[in-house]
Amino acid sequence: MYIDKDMKMADAIHYNYLLLPVINRLGVQLGFGDKNIEKVCQEEEVDLDFFLVIINAFLDHDLNKTLKIQSVSIEKIVDYLKATHQFYLEQMIPEVENRINALIQNFDINQNQFLLVKNFFEEYKKELYLHTQLEEKTVYPYVVDVYQAYQSHQLSQELLDRIKDYPINSYAQEHSDIESKLFDLKNILIKYLPQPKHSYQRNQVLTALFKMENDINDHSRIENMVLVPMISEMEKQLLTKSAQK
Ligand SMILES: [Fe+2]
Ligand SMILES: [Fe+2]
Repeated sequence: MYIDKDMKMADAIHYNYLLLPVINRLGVQLGFGDKNIEKVCQEEEVDLDFFLVIINAFLDHDLNKTLKIQSVSIEKIVDYLKATHQFYLEQMIPEVENRINALIQNFDINQNQFLLVKNFFEEYKKELYLHTQLEEKTVYPYVVDVYQAYQSHQLSQELLDRIKDYPINSYAQEHSDIESKLFDLKNILIKYLPQPKHSYQRNQVLTALFKMENDINDHSRIENMVLVPMISEMEKQLLTKSAQK
């Protein structure tokens, strides 16, 4: 289903509640009554096209169907990606940790096995933090520089060298997969750990992991399938123009 501007914002949430953090990150908070998406975006001063692209990209994995690439600003994409990183570190990670701790406290046998889950997640947290730091300190500023050079038709020697030395495709090739470890952790809980008495707490950990994995998948898809192709095209055009000078 494609979500369009005439749909009621509340209906979009009823359709898929996983959109809740996505719309929050885009600048829309709850309490919008029966207003449609266009009206809510207008009142909250949120770019309607960008809003529709991001929420439809979240629901439909075929980004080609949902993206009108020309209409999307790189700065907005980067702001959104940064807000997503922040959400993982400040909300999702603590939520999973709290649920793992609740599980460990209530679980009266094989506590060591569940401590393994906790340690595994600790390692994951460090990896995620390094991943987001690298992107925010190196990749995103570069992406914004390329975009601005492309828009202004002004390319500095420094940026030209950077495009030649380390184009966006190099980042794309090295872009580590931060979802697969979550999948492994879910499998440890689903397949291998003995049945606890407190299945409710175990399911709570799993539910939080499923939600986090889903959100991170969407995030990486936007990096790999929106940001990288757009920047790669801009790099190509900038290089061609500079060669003609
Ligand atoms: Fe990221
Ligand atoms: Fe990433």
